[in-house]
This record gives sequence, C-alpha cells and structure tokens, in this order.
Amino acid sequence: MGTLIQNGTVVSSDRSQLLDVLMEGEKIAKVGPGLDIAGHTVVDATGLLVMPGGIDVHTHLDMPFGGTTSADDYTTGTQAAAVGGTTTVIDFALQSQGHTMKEALATWLKKSDNKACVDFSLHMAVTDLGPGDGSQGLREMEEMLAAGISSFKLFMAYPGVLMIDDGLMFKVMQKAAALNALCCIHAENGSAIDIVVAQMIAEGKTAPHYHALSRSPKAEAEATHRAIALADMAGAAVYIVHLSNEYALDELKFMQARGAKALAETCTQYLVLSLEDQMPGKSWEEAKFVFTPPLREKRHQAPLWKALVEGSLSVVSTDHCPFRFADQKELGRGNFTKIPNGGPGIENRLQILWHFGVNAGRITQEKFVELCCTAPARIFGMGKQKGTIAPGLDADILLWDPKAEYTISAATQCMATDYSMFEGWKVQGNAAKVFSRGELVVDNTVQPGKFLGATGRGRFVRREANAGGFA
Ligand code: URP
Ligand code: ZN
Ligand code: ZN
Ligand code: ZN
Repeated sequence: MGTLIQNGTVVSSDRSQLLDVLMEGEKIAKVGPGLDIAGHTVVDATGLLVMPGGIDVHTHLDMPFGGTTSADDYTTGTQAAAVGGTTTVIDFALQSQGHTMKEALATWLKKSDNKACVDFSLHMAVTDLGPGDGSQGLREMEEMLAAGISSFKLFMAYPGVLMIDDGLMFKVMQKAAALNALCCIHAENGSAIDIVVAQMIAEGKTAPHYHALSRSPKAEAEATHRAIALADMAGAAVYIVHLSNEYALDELKFMQARGAKALAETCTQYLVLSLEDQMPGKSWEEAKFVFTPPLREKRHQAPLWKALVEGSLSVVSTDHCPFRFADQKELGRGNFTKIPNGGPGIENRLQILWHFGVNAGRITQEKFVELCCTAPARIFGMGKQKGTIAPGLDADILLWDPKAEYTISAATQCMATDYSMFEGWKVQGNAAKVFSRGELVVDNTVQPGKFLGATGRGRFVRREANAGGFA
C-alpha cells in the first residue's frame, strides 16, 4: 500500500503535466496519468503543483564563525528547510588549519547525528593539506570521496581563518580533476579586501554598511576570474558559490564561453535585496544584512535574473548562515569587522524565488524546479536519488500551492533567528505539503510551520563524483 498523489500538475525542469504520483515506502513507484487508486491512501492535489523537494546546496548549520556559532543547528535548520519546501541540504564541514579533513567530517557528522530532520550531505572545506608537499591532504581527498563527499570548498577570502593561497588551491584543483570531484569556490580577493577593511577602521568607519563598502564587486570579479582560470589550467570543474554581482558574472560568462568547466549559483538575497534599500548607512539595524559577499547596488539584480534564465547561473541557494540580532550581531556594534557574517534564509528560498521569479514573469515554473531542485542534484552528484520526480528516486515531494498567500515574519518562522531579512513581505505561493522519503513531514494547510516528523530522521546522502555534471 502506497500513497497516491492525485490530480496535481507535476512540474519538472522541462515540462508540466497532469499526472499522478505513487509513493511506496521511501521511493517514487509510479508516475503517470490516472493511476489506479486501489489499496492506496489518496492525497488530493487538485490545484497544486507537484514538484521535487527543494535542494539547498549552500547552508551553514551549527557553524563556528566570527567568534560565535550559527544560530540554527541541524534540527532547527532542517526543520525550517522542510517547512519552506526544501527536503535536502548540503552543508559545509570546515577543516581547521593544522587538523585533518577526517576530523572535520567526524565533527560535522556528530553535529548532525540524531538531529537532522531532512536528508543532508556535506561539502568538505579544505584549509590545509598538511606538512610538506601536501600529499597527506591530497590522499585525504580520496578518503572523502570514498565517504560520499564529492565536492571540495575553497575560500579565497577570510585570511588567517579559511583563506588558502593560489598554490594550495591549484593543488586541490588538480587532485579534484583526477578524482572527477567538484571544486566550490568562495571567490573574493581576501588580501585586498583586508587592506581596505583596515583602512576603513583606521578612519573610524565602523558602521555595518562599511562591511559592504569594503568588499567591492571588483574584488569578487577578480577572484572569480582567477578561480576559474586556475581550475581550467588544472582541468577541474569549478562551481562559484554565492555570485552576487554583474562584474563577477561577466568573468564567469567569459570563461564559460572559452570552454572552462565553470558553473555558479547565486543566492536569494542578491536577487531581491540591495545596498540602497537595506543598507543605506543609517542605523545599526543594517547589521542584519551583513553577510559575505555583501549586498550590491540594485542595478546588479537584473543581470543575475537574466543569467538564471540564460543558464550561465545554474542554481539558487541561500548561504543560510543565521545569527541572532540581539546578541550575536551585537558583537560587532562599534566595529563592523566583528559582526558575524551571514543571514537566515533557508525557510524562504522557494517563496521568494516563486514570488519574485515566477509570479513576476522572470522565470517559468519549470525553470524554478531546475534552479531549486534538479540542477542542484545533478551538479552535486545525487541526481540518481533526488531532484526529479521519477520512479526509483526518493519520494521527496513538494505540493506547492501557487495561490497561497503568506506573510514572512520572524514571529512565525522556524529559523532560530530573532529577525527575518524579509520581515513583513507578502508573497503568493507556498509549500502546502512536504514529503521526505515518502513521509509527510510538513502540512502547512493543517499545522502551518510545524515539522511533523521525528527529530533525527534525516540521513546523510552519499554523492558520486561527476565533475559537476561535466563528466
Ligand atoms: O556571510 C556569509 N556568507 N557567511 C558564511 C560564510 C560564507 O562565506 O559563505
Ligand atoms: Zn587534529
Ligand atoms: Zn562564502
Ligand atoms: Zn557560505
């Protein structure tokens, strides 16, 4: 006996059709018109869209950063994801300099153990290859792959903490190329930015919006070009994370046109928030919007939307890295360099992209599924398990109500922050029911904002090495 989703419109990345979907156990068993209901529990999806559960490939749960720890742990973070229609997240295990990747993996698996509520995977952020020629670290990359981690994150920013130099980056890229793994890059010129930051502080420019002014779009563009050029030299596939502005986009497109194996994501916030509107330099409240890369001038938004349509940007993620305003952002009052970088967004990604993308006529509903579900699964080596509604795949299914009206507010959100970046925004389109491996884990039509499954039910997803889909 399974669960049959009847009368809904199944949306995939290339078409929308009136089809039924039968879930049996944790898997999708059948997809087709007029499936036989005999013996099955029926879920009526009339008027709803049936989509693959969302996949957010860029989150930071329970992460030590900026002298504190991100406010959502694996429980609150994955519950917030589910309530918003996201059924898989890829978080980052951060290697500490002087320690091994194995230690980082063990630390992050412990953080998630008995806590994750939807399925999750990990990228490994490499900060150190060990002594000498780095062969120890390069061998560890093989072990990571064997453990199901097929993407490696490299930081070109945050000197002294996470940043690595070009030589180390190149070595990791060569190894990634040999392993068919994907290199994910935080692309900003951290050394140049740190000089600007020091100059600003010396001049008494300490308010939150100086964080944004200190990190020029050009510093991101320079690093974006360098990262892709080095990956191209190494023969590696590269994925630029949180691309935020038109100059960086130009570098990406230039290298893509040259044949580099380069992909990139942007994040919800860069599509709808701006320096002018959220960070005019008037109040401490602007600390709520201190994240990296920072908010850009509004004129950068249209090129990002266009790139999503045209395909040079492949994914929309959140870079969910939540800190409470009252006590965590507060650490940087009087000195923007001490404001923990990051914003909360895991719960609102689909609402925002639907409302400002699909409702506004910028993207189709099929493109929405491609950007939020199918491309993330394919690029990150889990397309045989997730990201598409087809027999044999995990029954991670989102029933989306395109008519539902919803007002975003910290007062009703599941995320553990005391603020929302989209406070009071009214959107149309919301998750109605969410199934994770066949289990109804959210029913916003009956118990809005409540996670219905057991804490700890989320499983680690092993991903295969497919060089971002280029292999
Ligand atoms: O501000 C951000 N994005 N914090 C998280 C770390 C990163 O750079 O993604
Ligand atoms: Zn150690
Ligand atoms: Zn980053
Ligand atoms: Zn991030």
